[in-house]
Amino acid sequence: MSRDHWSGKDVLSILDFSRQDLEQLFALADEFIRRPGAVEKSLSDRIVATAFFEPSTRTRLSFTTAALKLGAKVVDLSPDASSVMKGESLHDTILMLEAYSDLIVMRHPSEGAALLASEVAKIPIINGGDGSQHHPSQAMLDLFTIKRLKGRIDGLRYAILGDARYARTVTSLLYGLSKYRPASVYLVSPEGLRLRSEIKATLEGFNLETQELDKIDDVLGKVDVIYMTRIQKERFPDVNEYERVKGSYRIDKATLVKAKGAIVLHPLPRMNELAYDVDSLPSAAYMEQARLGVPLRMALLDSVLGRTKK
Ligand code: CP
Repeated sequence: MSRDHWSGKDVLSILDFSRQDLEQLFALADEFIRRPGAVEKSLSDRIVATAFFEPSTRTRLSFTTAALKLGAKVVDLSPDASSVMKGESLHDTILMLEAYSDLIVMRHPSEGAALLASEVAKIPIINGGDGSQHHPSQAMLDLFTIKRLKGRIDGLRYAILGDARYARTVTSLLYGLSKYRPASVYLVSPEGLRLRSEIKATLEGFNLETQELDKIDDVLGKVDVIYMTRIQKERFPDVNEYERVKGSYRIDKATLVKAKGAIVLHPLPRMNELAYDVDSLPSAAYMEQARLGVPLRMALLDSVLGRTKK
């Protein structure tokens, strides 16, 4: 399997990768799942740095676990305990991480921070989320989960429920879906959480058709994948704007009675929008989605770093 297109590359946006690249990544992740005992320690001489300027459980820890499983060592910046607190610039912080490691996985509240890091550092940068813009490894994970659980990505009907305005997971998933041929994509949000016009225009340029709806009831029973997101409270420029949409959507076990055969995904963490009583349903796939983060990110690290020369 050729990983040439991944080797040494920055992973800033899923848009930078073709469908064929993604399929190669998924095949490698499948291989790691199928033959866990045969995983090569392909990163045994490598050091992966994590630098999360925003909180994270899944992205940071699944990248760390993935790196350790491939034999790499991991150093963590922990911004609160670093010289970032003394005012050190992102530019200089990235230069230091470049001096100490072979690849940086970073998350930052500012859109474009990962791009800036990639311009400063010669080693690969993996964007673990930059503001409301991109979260490429999450979108790769979402598509991988759908492929594993539904057998395909093409031809399915998708309902994406929640914060299409600020959730980078939604934007990145839509960018990922634009490389496939979904049968339909419904964006279900209240007025204040609709997709930003510039993202809509980008998607139209990729010929990905979306339909905006107010209520999930309108499409339950007509979709194969329900992708939930929490309201990104931390991204609202005005607390009043948040107060207007707070609690405006929620699904629970009773809601899903009509959702025949659909799987429920959520990048997590969840708040009140996804009731705990959904967890017992066979359609609840979000914990499996989070678990698949390890093999998917193993495939990503191996593809980017496993074959590069030091
Ligand atoms: N899905 C996701 O990005 O989760 P974390 O914020 O916990 O990394």
